[in-house]
Amino acid sequence: MQKDYQPEKLKIDKDLPGFSLKGIKEHFKLYEGYVKKTNEIQKKIEDADKSEANAVYSYIGELKREEVFAINGIKLHEIYFDHLGGDGKPSGELVKMIERDFGSVDKWREDMIATGLSARGWAIMAYDLKDSQLHNYGADAQNIGAVWGAIPIIALDVYEHAYFMDYGTDRKSYVNAFFENLDWSVANAMMTKYVTPWEKTKNQ
Ligand SMILES: [Fe+2]
Repeated sequence: MQKDYQPEKLKIDKDLPGFSLKGIKEHFKLYEGYVKKTNEIQKKIEDADKSEANAVYSYIGELKREEVFAINGIKLHEIYFDHLGGDGKPSGELVKMIERDFGSVDKWREDMIATGLSARGWAIMAYDLKDSQLHNYGADAQNIGAVWGAIPIIALDVYEHAYFMDYGTDRKSYVNAFFENLDWSVANAMMTKYVTPWEKTKNQ
């Protein structure tokens, strides 16, 4: 029996530089929709006829496909909304790790912006357990492009729904505004929780 997911609460209650509260609230409704749909899909999977499984088309196959889309929608949006609302100033241990793996914060940002302008769904800075390094990964959809064993630390939503209300087609300005509002203390807390213990083990 799968446990139901519960949506987090939106912490943002005012306009942010470059982000209208109305746009943020509309976007947050989509996140709540992913929570609702994940719970619905997982219940349907329990009851679905497993004997009809087929890779071209089957009801269970579609449920399995959309389960991944919806659950990644939950995870990535929680990271996105959690670290939106900061002052954008890079700080903390994460900066040292970015400098180690990208050379500088500027080089990291340049690569992350290029990832955000070329991906169709997400630009994700993740720590990959395979090589114990940070990477900027692009994902065309929530169920395409995920790298197994990589922990997302910073997630930039570049689906049109994230910026069309405030920016129309001007994705570049939206991406720049994202960095201006990035809360580095939240990103650092993610790193301390999930990456630091791994780094210590690796160095033993
Ligand atoms: Fe989104």
